[in-house]
Amino acid sequence: MTKSDLIKQKKAAAEKAVEFIESGMLVGLGTGSTVKFMIEGLAKKIKNGLDVKTVSTSNATSNFAESLGITVLNFNDVEEIDITIDGADEVDPNLNGIKGGGGALLNEKIVASSSKKNIWMVDSTKHVELLGRFPLPVEVVPFGINQTLNKLFLLGYKPEFRSAAGKNYVTDGNHYIIDLHLNKIKNPAELNNKLLLIPGVVDTGLFLEVCDVLIISADDECKIILKT
Ligand code: A5P
Repeated sequence: MTKSDLIKQKKAAAEKAVEFIESGMLVGLGTGSTVKFMIEGLAKKIKNGLDVKTVSTSNATSNFAESLGITVLNFNDVEEIDITIDGADEVDPNLNGIKGGGGALLNEKIVASSSKKNIWMVDSTKHVELLGRFPLPVEVVPFGINQTLNKLFLLGYKPEFRSAAGKNYVTDGNHYIIDLHLNKIKNPAELNNKLLLIPGVVDTGLFLEVCDVLIISADDECKIILKT
């Protein structure tokens, strides 16, 4: 798919997602390039009278939403979120997914777990039979990272520190990310449990049974799949 086709698909999925937002809702804003299109659509609707408040999953999203005049509340000051809209890196037929390509997995998971409904938007390339071609992000505390990396290496997970500008990538929560090059994840739940047992691992990019509504954009239309 060409870059411009990809952007078209992301925009189409984002526009569809905005249709789920109603006045009076508290909306969770995910992170990433598809979410940015969704926030632009939401900002337009707010200018036309839609009355919503939001919470955000990253500093980048907060800054972008606020720059468009959207009210972003402190996550600690709210109760349950009505709907959270986010992107994903891969989603399988059971609506389990990998997230965290943009580094916001931990906050995204916390916000998703406090949301009545989670909507994900993906372009058609991200809908896969088996998760794992996309490297699985694992968020780790900086203390003892070489030890943590070595444990992941010995388990055969092909770990690699994520870097940015020649340094370890640092998340909003001041953690690091190790990406696992697994290629195929046959049992996501088992892998998730194994990873969470490693001291130093804060969370993983495996989002299991989180997504309630998946919007997949293809060439000319969006397909919606609901969790069964
Ligand atoms: C952010 O940490 C991620 O979970 C994103 O939601 C995911 O990487 C999708 O990003 P894009 O919408 O930029 O493809």
